[in-house]
Amino acid sequence: MATLIVALDLPEKDAALALAEKLRRVDGWIPWCKVGLELFTVCGPALLESLNKLGYKIFLDLKFYDIPHTVAGAVRAAAFYADMLTLHCQGGERMCRAARRMLETLAHEGSLRKTAEMLESSGRPDVSPLLFGVTALTSFAAGEMPGVALTPSAFAVYLAAKARAWGLDGVVCAGTEVKRIKAGSPGLACLCPGIRPQGFAADDQRRVMTPREAVQAGADFLVIGRPILSASDPVGTLSGILQEICS
Ligand code: C5P
Repeated sequence: MATLIVALDLPEKDAALALAEKLRRVDGWIPWCKVGLELFTVCGPALLESLNKLGYKIFLDLKFYDIPHTVAGAVRAAAFYADMLTLHCQGGERMCRAARRMLETLAHEGSLRKTAEMLESSGRPDVSPLLFGVTALTSFAAGEMPGVALTPSAFAVYLAAKARAWGLDGVVCAGTEVKRIKAGSPGLACLCPGIRPQGFAADDQRRVMTPREAVQAGADFLVIGRPILSASDPVGTLSGILQEICS
């Protein structure tokens, strides 16, 4: 079954922790949250520790994009807190490989956050964070990517084909691209934003799918923010989405 990640795209710590506290008891949900640019810039790593204490796995979505040395340094810092982190595939082969090498070095040094509790909850032999590459942002429609002649979907499929060889565990892509990506790179995991249950506004997202459609297409992770954050009943909305993808 796909893993559902709630994007805590909120402007401050108290609101984020209050929502995390409410959601974590939803039946049948493994609590996974995304902390992104806004919340991390406001709160820093202390918030990640608090979320971790609440039992959350952390998708730290800072979308690194810089020279290989700088990204490797950022990965070193993020690896201590995150279960999953992102960089831009557009950073290219040397940048992606530098990130992977850093994770391997940390694992080798034993300097990842390897507590017994984490090892148990991760279900993995080590707790090296999963490394995901952003392909084409789900907010891009055709013709909107500066300097790129391909459609966003074609560009996402093109970058995903490189990602595995460059050492990434998965890619961030639209649900509409999952089937083509999996056909070309069967071992690559797909994490899909741009998820909108029936009847919810697309907001700034352009390449959208319902939770059920994305799961049927083969998505491994769904990341959902505003449909849950702006609901009058976030707990009920999350439960409804879980039911939709499980039934
Ligand atoms: O509110 P909404 O459900 O659109 O949130 C989607 C989340 O996924 C946001 O936190 C956004 O930063 C993230 N994301 C995205 N597109 C990507 C990568 C991440 O929308 N390509």
